Amino acid sequence: MKRIVILISGRGSNMLSLLESDLPVEVCAVISNRPDAAGIEIARNRGIEAFAVDHRQYSSREEFDAALSAKIDAFSPEIVVLAGFMRILGNDFVARYSGRLVNIPPSLLPSFPGVDTHRRALAEGVKIHGCTVHFVTEQLDHGAIIIQAAVPVLQEDSAETLAARVLAEEHRIYPQAIRWLAEGKLKLADGRVFLESPGDPPAALIHPPLSP
Ligand code: GAR
Repeated sequence: MKRIVILISGRGSNMLSLLESDLPVEVCAVISNRPDAAGIEIARNRGIEAFAVDHRQYSSREEFDAALSAKIDAFSPEIVVLAGFMRILGNDFVARYSGRLVNIPPSLLPSFPGVDTHRRALAEGVKIHGCTVHFVTEQLDHGAIIIQAAVPVLQEDSAETLAARVLAEEHRIYPQAIRWLAEGKLKLADGRVFLESPGDPPAALIHPPLSP
């Protein structure tokens, strides 16, 4: 069982999808940068230690990052999972967990890094949108890609309906990525992720499959 710490900022639906996926991991703690994050209560109700490290209590990003990593390190996790964590982490923090820090942005990287991804995807008129699980590097939303899921963008979509369709895919691909990571099946080479076992599910999902 790999020890993991999950970082959240809000409702925690990705966190919950991990908790409910029967993964070969022990979730040691859930930490939020916002004390009012709904996910804290959800984790506690499942018997998981959950608390906030409030970024507003620190005068600089470096101080916050240092306080956060001290809390994380107290649990000696092998994997640190960003699940809707909405703070940018500094270079020292990222380097400390290099190769074992993963994130899920709601976009098909390298398209639409950052925030407000669904509205931006609609504004660009893209026909396919989705989500990505990747290793975190110093550059925002720009690390080796582990798995992606794509959904069609529909004519009638609003940012909300598109977000909901993408979120359902997030809940499928994040557990898969963490399972691969926990089982040691991912290999990094030349900035790319390779999956070791040919029998495993594909790392690219299109849902629903596009009809001709
Ligand atoms: C998710 O859609 C996640 O992809 C996104 O925030 C949402 C959190 O939802 N993350 C980012 O935008 C990271 N930059 P959740 O709290 O219900 O998991």
